[in-house]
Amino acid sequence: MPRSVKTAVFPVAGLGTRFLPATKSVPKEIMTLVDKPLVQYAIDEARAAGIEEFIFVTSRGKSALEDYFDQAPQLEQSLEAKGKTELLDVLRKTNMESGAIAYIRQTQALGLGHAVWCARRLIGDRPFAVILPDDVIAADTPCLQQMVEAYQETGGNMVATMEVPADKASAYGIVDIAEDMGSIVSVKGMVEKPSQEEAPSNLAVIGRYILTPKVLTNLEEGKRGAGGEIQLTDAIAQEITDSDNVYGFRFAGQRFDCGSKAGFLQATVSFALSRPDLAPELQDFLQELSFASKAAE
Ligand code: UTP
Repeated sequence: MPRSVKTAVFPVAGLGTRFLPATKSVPKEIMTLVDKPLVQYAIDEARAAGIEEFIFVTSRGKSALEDYFDQAPQLEQSLEAKGKTELLDVLRKTNMESGAIAYIRQTQALGLGHAVWCARRLIGDRPFAVILPDDVIAADTPCLQQMVEAYQETGGNMVATMEVPADKASAYGIVDIAEDMGSIVSVKGMVEKPSQEEAPSNLAVIGRYILTPKVLTNLEEGKRGAGGEIQLTDAIAQEITDSDNVYGFRFAGQRFDCGSKAGFLQATVSFALSRPDLAPELQDFLQELSFASKAAE
């Protein structure tokens, strides 16, 4: 029997302070990479992995995000009347089936672990995925789909991982590797935001997870971890002790940290360069820029 994962949680209740003043009125997840909001990349990735139920953990000021998933009949009619079939197709791809999306509020930003815990009643007693929309991953096979495939072998809890330079470890959750089997590693420990000296490896957790409902029980205790926040990493690490069923997955693809300005800009350029309708003009512009900066040196 295949191990199925049909539900995904999208925690989007953070304040997005690194993008102020934009995030004063625009949720970070609605900001666009080329012409699609971050959240659309996350939904597309989830769908490719077979997800059918989408749970958004939101907060005050995120109504633009909820509206984004409403159908837009007037816009559709107008595009239809003008024969703009390509745009109509683009628009229709963003439509969600009625009842597929649920929103739940995190009333206080107590951390990622707490945000996921807020969705516990909607998740129920099934394995579930977690996707952080500000981690955008360019990959031939979408990252969560790669994970669902690997999860058929492992079951348990799986976190997406990537190698990071030693001096960047303190920005991530870092795994302690028990056995390295290539793309899958079994994990014997996890530390959230360790100092460079304390980091047990250079394998960092990024924003894709497949989790057992037991992690929600662990979050119940509401223990504060790094930065005084209720950390998802700590609740997963508890499963190493209790069930020894935590795995890291080295995905194939490039991850962009779109929660940071530099990462967002890099993703914008990279995604635009992969688009045939935009690449030639952008390439010319980047070349001109680089000539101009060399000439100025
Ligand atoms: P970040 O650490 O990027 O925080 O959260 P943030 O608030 O979004 O952004 P900055 O640091 O202020 O610029 C990682 C993910 O966890 C969610 C965020 O929405 C983001 O998707 N999150 C974080 C919550 O949903 N609730 C929280 O209490 C904390």
